[in-house]
Amino acid sequence: MAFDIEMIRGVYTKMSDTINKAREVVGKPLTLSEKILYNHLWDGAATRAFQRGKDYVDFAPDRIACQDATAQMALLQFMQAGKSKVAVPTTVHCDHLIQAKEGAAKDLKHANSVSSEVFNFLESVSNKYGIGFWKPGAGIIHQVVLENYAFPGGMMIGTDSHTVNAGGLGMVAIGVGGADAVDVMAGMAWELKFPKLIGVKLTGKLSGWTAPKDVILKVAEILTVKGGTGAIVEYFGPGAIAMSCTGKGTICNMGAEIGATTSTFGYDDSMDRYLRATDRADVADAANKVKAHLTADPEVYANPEDYFDQVIEINLSELGPLLNGPFTPDLSTEVGADMTKKANENDWPIKVEWGLIGSCTNSSYEDLSRASSIAQQALDKGLKMKAELGINPGSEQVRYTAERDGILGIFENLDAKIFTNACGPCIGQWARYSDPKNAPKNSIVHSFNRNFAKRADGNPNTHAFVASPELTAAIAVAGRLDFNPLKDKLINEDGQEVMFDEPTGWELPPKGFAVDDNGYLAPEADGRHVKVSVKEDSERLQLLTPFQPLGSTITGAKLLIKAFGKCTTDHISMAGPWLRFRGHLDNIANNTLIGAVNAFNQKTNFVKNQLTGDYGGVPDTARAYKAAGVKSIVVGDHNYGEGSSREHAAMQPRHLGVAAVIVKSFARIHETNLKKQGMLGLTFANESDYDLIQEDDTFNFLDLNEFAPDKQLTLEIVHSDASKDVIKLNHTYNDAQIAWYKEGSALNLIKKQNA
Ligand code: F3S
Repeated sequence: MAFDIEMIRGVYTKMSDTINKAREVVGKPLTLSEKILYNHLWDGAATRAFQRGKDYVDFAPDRIACQDATAQMALLQFMQAGKSKVAVPTTVHCDHLIQAKEGAAKDLKHANSVSSEVFNFLESVSNKYGIGFWKPGAGIIHQVVLENYAFPGGMMIGTDSHTVNAGGLGMVAIGVGGADAVDVMAGMAWELKFPKLIGVKLTGKLSGWTAPKDVILKVAEILTVKGGTGAIVEYFGPGAIAMSCTGKGTICNMGAEIGATTSTFGYDDSMDRYLRATDRADVADAANKVKAHLTADPEVYANPEDYFDQVIEINLSELGPLLNGPFTPDLSTEVGADMTKKANENDWPIKVEWGLIGSCTNSSYEDLSRASSIAQQALDKGLKMKAELGINPGSEQVRYTAERDGILGIFENLDAKIFTNACGPCIGQWARYSDPKNAPKNSIVHSFNRNFAKRADGNPNTHAFVASPELTAAIAVAGRLDFNPLKDKLINEDGQEVMFDEPTGWELPPKGFAVDDNGYLAPEADGRHVKVSVKEDSERLQLLTPFQPLGSTITGAKLLIKAFGKCTTDHISMAGPWLRFRGHLDNIANNTLIGAVNAFNQKTNFVKNQLTGDYGGVPDTARAYKAAGVKSIVVGDHNYGEGSSREHAAMQPRHLGVAAVIVKSFARIHETNLKKQGMLGLTFANESDYDLIQEDDTFNFLDLNEFAPDKQLTLEIVHSDASKDVIKLNHTYNDAQIAWYKEGSALNLIKKQNA
């Protein structure tokens, strides 16, 4: 059995008590989001109400899911924790490292050959530490999670932004960095700022060409790409109840595109139907017994303004199909409105070259069946495809069932390419061009979630528009961005004018789901004997060695770089081609801070090596200091480390011998990541002291031996003319985090405690 019904029953058993207690401390009826959050407190039932958007709270998630790109470093770190098994049910899904080029069979074979060492590593680590493993081709992480693991009222974290997809089945599911996932795998709490709450009331009912995708495209238009930041979006109302469970998943999935912490829906019959169809009647039965806890208290949805920080209302009966893009998912154009005008004004190519259906966002059976109803009409009405069509089924179960039911056959009759059940074109793994950087300007339409430049095919000139699967299919047939299937006629091969009828489909397969081999490998009950092998000369994987404690005396440290202005995690550890080295700390460290601007010459990756007087790249200079036994210091501006929660941005400088990062202010997650790696993350007590730092400075910490919570540290800066400045530095380390520093890293401490 892939899922753990006893764990789910345990979550439900404590709900009544914890929710009553939470209602008491909050002092009013609760939203669904609050019920789930308060039922997952690390310290048990609440003793006080938490302030939304302010308080940092420790949670105990029920599950963890990791995809193959992020799992590499997460598992390499977990191996350092000295545990024999993960503390919380965890799965690994191989979906990101598979290119889309020629079609599923050939592409999967190719991926299995070029990434075999990564897949084998992930499989053996999973087997050893009690982690469920989903092989390449088994499906896209979030579709597989929805089909197998998501459950109403649960809390999960995942090392991928679209983990939020599981909100479609009534979860609070949140995307996190690898370091957070490792903590929870190792049995530690997971910290989150208690989110704000946005309520979205859906009235009316979806019909005709309008799909769940259009709901989130509309929400994105209203809230924009930043509107959901720090908030959980909770959907409710008759329009929500009338929608399929996988449709709800689509809406929650793209909550990531408005910056939301996550999105969720209250438990209803659509979830009951989906759980039973995916062989989880026992979960549905257990959920039905605690139904009242799996949705908000009735007062909340009656007067949402009194309970949510913001409320939006959308009447689904009035909502039409939308096309969002290009380059941003919140730029909406109503189909049939002014696409021709907008495209002309902005010079967007009207001709559409490709339609792509699938990704974790829209690859359910319902999505494929509705899109295939359009494809079938194209065949029946004698229409010839004007654009090419590509399909990525979400899971092997969906693919197998869709093939059995003739759905894939319909697409194939239109010469569509059926790609692997994997991310493919959604993550730039689309081998569309030999030289994407110089590829021509063009438009594509897809049912994915992200459409920023280069996301699909690496071509900065590809204008990607996001739409529902059925609209994507219709536009691919018509080959034009401004095609309105509700009104426009097309000319068929006999020269006749024809129109599409409204799309139709099945919420769930009428003959039930089927699958031959779902691609799941259960771990051994006792994996202690399993060997994890990593080749000595591997380019992509490297076993980690524990970081050595930096100690209570740091003197003679040299300035590595004084970063000027914005320095995000992308500046500290670039993505793009470097993703290939995500599992190899030493190799990926060669991109450390190469995007940061040197405050002394305004150049990137060009800093002074104080030992030689020469200028060179940041990683090389850091390595030179390290080889000479000299510690180095990074100085930065405001909000240093903003962007992603990528733990590499802390591990790489640590690996290269950086002892302290001293800035005007930190992005909080990065600051915590530095602490976890046993480094000093400090802020100038006086911001203007940033200006005192000179290119040839040497640093001595004067009272590091007295490192204690709420006590400033003192730093002596020795300039090249031997003059000195002594400044105060602030920090936010608590006792536990100081213990991480003293042990060399949080994982070293966990290992010591387990010994
Ligand atoms: Fe994969 Fe794209 Fe989803 S990369 S996990 S299909 S957002």
